[in-house]
Amino acid sequence: MSGSPLRVAVLGAGTVGREVVHALLDRRDELASADGASLVLSAVAVRNVERAVAAGYPASMVSDAPAHLVADPDIDVVVELMGGDEPAHTLIAAALSMGKSVVTANKHVVAHHGAELEATARRTGGVLRFEAAVGGGIPVLGPLATDLAANRVERIRGIVNGTTNFILTAMTDPASPFEFEAALAEAQRLGYAEADPSGDVEGLDAVNKLVILARLAFDAWLDPAAVATRPDGADGPAGPGITTVSLADQQDARRAGRIIRLVATASAGDDGEIQAAVLATALPLESALGRTSGVRNRIEVDAVPVGRIGFDGPGAGGAATSSAVLGDLMAIARGAGSTWGARPSATGPTGDPVTRPDRPVLIAASGIRYPIDD
Ligand SMILES: NC(=O)c1ccc[n+]([C@@H]2O[C@H](COP(=O)([O-])OP(=O)(O)OC[C@H]3O[C@@H](n4cnc5c(N)ncnc54)[C@H](OP(=O)(O)O)[C@@H]3O)[C@@H](O)[C@H]2O)c1
Repeated sequence: MSGSPLRVAVLGAGTVGREVVHALLDRRDELASADGASLVLSAVAVRNVERAVAAGYPASMVSDAPAHLVADPDIDVVVELMGGDEPAHTLIAAALSMGKSVVTANKHVVAHHGAELEATARRTGGVLRFEAAVGGGIPVLGPLATDLAANRVERIRGIVNGTTNFILTAMTDPASPFEFEAALAEAQRLGYAEADPSGDVEGLDAVNKLVILARLAFDAWLDPAAVATRPDGADGPAGPGITTVSLADQQDARRAGRIIRLVATASAGDDGEIQAAVLATALPLESALGRTSGVRNRIEVDAVPVGRIGFDGPGAGGAATSSAVLGDLMAIARGAGSTWGARPSATGPTGDPVTRPDRPVLIAASGIRYPIDD
């Protein structure tokens, strides 16, 4: 090990934060690399301090004042695991403006404020890492930015939201197919869907992840609000995301050898125009994406010269997601930079992404025209 220890503050100790805190306390030696600084957990921010202390967190470490921890000169690295827009956005921006390193799993903040945060990090020399924001435990952003850097990405697409994929899988269970509402209720019962599931089922969570993937693939920050989520366009009969996918439509797709899944896709045309959409899409039953079931995620990159690469695995869950957060922390301890690595700067939001108007479709009995894909 080399250099002074890095003092870490973890903001948020919920599903993901709890796993990260325990790993930093219990597995410190395992997380230390031979050629990096050691990581020392110095503070944990929560809303309810009493509850955190009762749960076994050292009282001297717990705080309900995350802004104080960010401003504390004794904190080198901020790990933001609170979620939501504010105060997470302001805390991350403040840490970067002080030149600190930040690790976050917050896809909302990275997708909506990425251009601003990237500009700040580049200006101050701060580091921003966000592998956990896409695909939970699946390493995909790092490989895109580094190992695949010699490629030109033509298209990136994937199943990036476990909640909607669980619901669509339950609807196609041959033993007992569920209607949408019953499948959603089952997802909520099992803890895969939140009490307010709109961000997932309307496709907004997947849009955030697509914006982040597109940043690494095409060096542009897209405006999340401009990414289409309705398969039939703004005026068509289909609602956003999977909100109008019915059991009958799934059965129509199955008769055509297909299955409807929520697919996030971004591609770049020869003119540099970026096409991006998150659409309920009819895929071949036997394709790798079609076979991706339940809460698993899969992301595919089509690039030249490598061809197609697939990244598959657990897209959520505290333990799996902590793998990506801790990997980012260890990278910082080794002196690695931000997740975008050596890729060119991306400003933005850039011009609105467009949806391909001429995609072949599967017309279900409901009248909804689902795009088809390979
Ligand atoms: N869960 C997953 O599987 C998963 C996967 C990938 C990415 N993520 C992302 O990871 C982040 C965290 O998700 P999560 O599921 O762990 O959330 P969570 O279970 O709701 O935990 C949030 C934590 O943040 C704390 N918190 C919230 N607002 C705060 C504030 N203003 N001041 C201090 N503490 C505050 C909460 O404290 P109290 O407990 O005291 O209220 C809680 O400890 C989110 O950005 C999420 O999108 C989650």
